[in-house]
Amino acid sequence: LASVDVDVTHVAEGQAVTVMWRGKPVFVRHRTAKEIEEAKAVNVSELRDPQTDQARVQREPWLVVVGICTHLGCVPLGQKPTDPRGEFGGWFCPCHGSAYDTAGRIRRGPAPLNLAVPEYAFRSDTQIRIG
Ligand code: FES
Repeated sequence: LASVDVDVTHVAEGQAVTVMWRGKPVFVRHRTAKEIEEAKAVNVSELRDPQTDQARVQREPWLVVVGICTHLGCVPLGQKPTDPRGEFGGWFCPCHGSAYDTAGRIRRGPAPLNLAVPEYAFRSDTQIRIG
């Protein structure tokens, strides 16, 4: 499918869903106020792939990223509440230890780039169209 619609009505704060889009997992995470605050507090000039939180989200609580590690393509952990999320609270790639923050930015480990943000749009407050 060229695009996929996600209904996020039941994705509570702190929860996330994974949807498949063009054969790739896409993570949609409903961030907590603390996670947003952490993402915004980062000194962007110290980042390997410098991007502000604002440049990566359309609506602050919702982070939408392609769930493929930018090192060698493993699927990072962090979607389930029981998953390890790494030391920066976003995702942790079990293959070689890359750690991503609550904006999906690479913070430690071998991955060169932030998790990619796919093309998407809010169709309403609770409907996101990816692609
Ligand atoms: Fe994720 Fe290597 S594939 S750290």
